[in-house]
Amino acid sequence: MDLQEAAGVFTDPRAYADEERFHAATAVLRRESPVHRVEADRYPAYWAITRYDDVMAIACDSEAWRNWPRTTVHQDPALPPPPIRTLVQMDAPDHPVYRRISADMFRPAGVRRLSDRIADLARRYVDRMAELGGECDFYADVAAHYPLYVILSLLGLPEEDFPLMLRLTQELFGADDPDFARSASGNEAASAAILDFFTYFQGLIADRRKNPADDLASVIANATPNGELIGELEAIGYYVLIATAGHDTTSAAISGGMHALLTHPDQWRRLRDDPSLVPTAVDEMIRWVSPVKHFMRTASKDTEIRGVPIPAGDAVLLSYPSANRDEDVFANPQTFDVGRTPNRHLGFGFGAHYCLGTHLARLEARALYAELVPRIRSIELAGPVEYVEALFVGGPKRVPIRYAMA
Ligand code: HEM
Repeated sequence: MDLQEAAGVFTDPRAYADEERFHAATAVLRRESPVHRVEADRYPAYWAITRYDDVMAIACDSEAWRNWPRTTVHQDPALPPPPIRTLVQMDAPDHPVYRRISADMFRPAGVRRLSDRIADLARRYVDRMAELGGECDFYADVAAHYPLYVILSLLGLPEEDFPLMLRLTQELFGADDPDFARSASGNEAASAAILDFFTYFQGLIADRRKNPADDLASVIANATPNGELIGELEAIGYYVLIATAGHDTTSAAISGGMHALLTHPDQWRRLRDDPSLVPTAVDEMIRWVSPVKHFMRTASKDTEIRGVPIPAGDAVLLSYPSANRDEDVFANPQTFDVGRTPNRHLGFGFGAHYCLGTHLARLEARALYAELVPRIRSIELAGPVEYVEALFVGGPKRVPIRYAMA
């Protein structure tokens, strides 16, 4: 595979749905051109960063590398910015101020308060597998809904609105995938979904300002960053970020993790024989699937990476799935190992924007597998697994399984 073909994977949604092709391409880039200039035809030019150490160094230096104005490869800084502004679009000094608003809710102590509720939900979904009678689509029947219930419960949304949130999230993040998009154009589909989110959350802000409750939605609606009531756009951005980042990613880790277990039956048996491996298995699932495919940063001044000069204003794409298979950092990176230790994967990013939901995501995924593993007597794939065609956040969209439960 030549370098141009290899670099094409970052703007080809179908490449992310074909793991073998994606990982073969990024292995070539890591080896031959780890700081690679991509002149894509659909999106403005950028540099693809594929090695672990470089992704980490850029993520750690948020002075030199800014999140604004381009957070994903889709965005064209020459066009008007998206109507909402979220944490991931912010830099200092705003970013730490807005991050602090919800930080307490996501710290280990804040998240532990939810552990009973999460364990209940995990049981509900494993019971559901039992009710489905030995065959289901693990993505559609379990993984797509369970994290959504967790995060929307934390936000405090009513359960009857959950299906709407699920549909809008799939449309937003799966906008490049023909199964989820509303229209032929990915960008148009995403804009339509953003508008619907906007209307919904405007209503929620008004309500929680009038009737504050003990939920994250009220914390956000009534926050006073810099001493003044949060702006409507910032509050909406916060809700959208949490309602979306909080579940599609975890769904992908859980369902992609199941796919990995079933294509590595020795690892499934190892986990079944020793469920104390669930925590390391979950982190290995996150490394293996890397549900967030990339974020971008923009150079605030002339700089260089590995001796390659990068002028101020140029954008870099941090490839988390590639960094997580870096041969210089992980022993046997192409091996799925449920007991992998250490496992310093970059699936949650690093630095100032390090994922806010890490404790919640781990708690959720661990609770589900801790419930599921001991209750399964046998399990296998019942058909082809398919991955969503998406450039930003993705994982399986179909995981047909056949199983017998204890
Ligand atoms: C396995 C599941 C998850 C994965 C793989 C994941 C991954 C990521 C990544 C890669 C970033 C960007 C980090 C960076 O720029 O350095 C991020 C940011 C973020 N994540 Fe997650 N995430 C997951 C679950 C969650 C959950 C459950 C929440 C709950 C609300 C969440 C909320 C956020 C937020 C709010 C940010 C933005 C933080 C900021 O910009 O300061 N994530 N996540």
